Amino acid sequence: MNKYSLSDIDEIRDYNRDRFISVFPASLQSKELLDYLYNSAYFTAPSACGIHGAWIGGNFDHSLKVTEYLLQYTIDENLTWQRKESPYVIGMFHDLCKSDIRDFKMTKDGELKVIMVPNKDKRHAEKSLELIAPFIELTTEEKLCIYYHMGKYDEQLDYIELMDKVAQQFPNIYWTQKADTKAAREGI
Ligand SMILES: [Fe+2]
Ligand SMILES: [Fe+2]
Repeated sequence: MNKYSLSDIDEIRDYNRDRFISVFPASLQSKELLDYLYNSAYFTAPSACGIHGAWIGGNFDHSLKVTEYLLQYTIDENLTWQRKESPYVIGMFHDLCKSDIRDFKMTKDGELKVIMVPNKDKRHAEKSLELIAPFIELTTEEKLCIYYHMGKYDEQLDYIELMDKVAQQFPNIYWTQKADTKAAREGI
């Protein structure tokens, strides 16, 4: 982290905004969505404190990686989606909830450190769904893939039985979990 200074945050925010505009389907982009993402910490938030994505824009890089895996699985495994843009919607917004729970602080030694922001809202997938809802109308499949993306890693284990039933009808839930886990295991 010490190769960054606080001013790099502004540069990375603009860089990731441009990446988003070039990658995300134009039909689902709007000024309102872009303004919201830009003014929240979506383009700069880290993914975690040290497990994966603990750098400026780590959560954005993670989201892009999950999107890439979903697109790859779509080709390799012949996946079909309720709309063709779904891998982008799910990949880019499944962890939207992380935009405001971590921040950066410069230590005395001049290193940029990830810190937790006090936040009462402990929800994860459900919070992501709530945050994207005003900007993009999600398909049922997108909602379910985001809702269940943590799979057995979610602390609310009581949903597992129901998840397995739902995933029989929406098997892309499992591919979403696989893409998410693969990216995280690779440190992104
Ligand atoms: Fe997640
Ligand atoms: Fe994730």
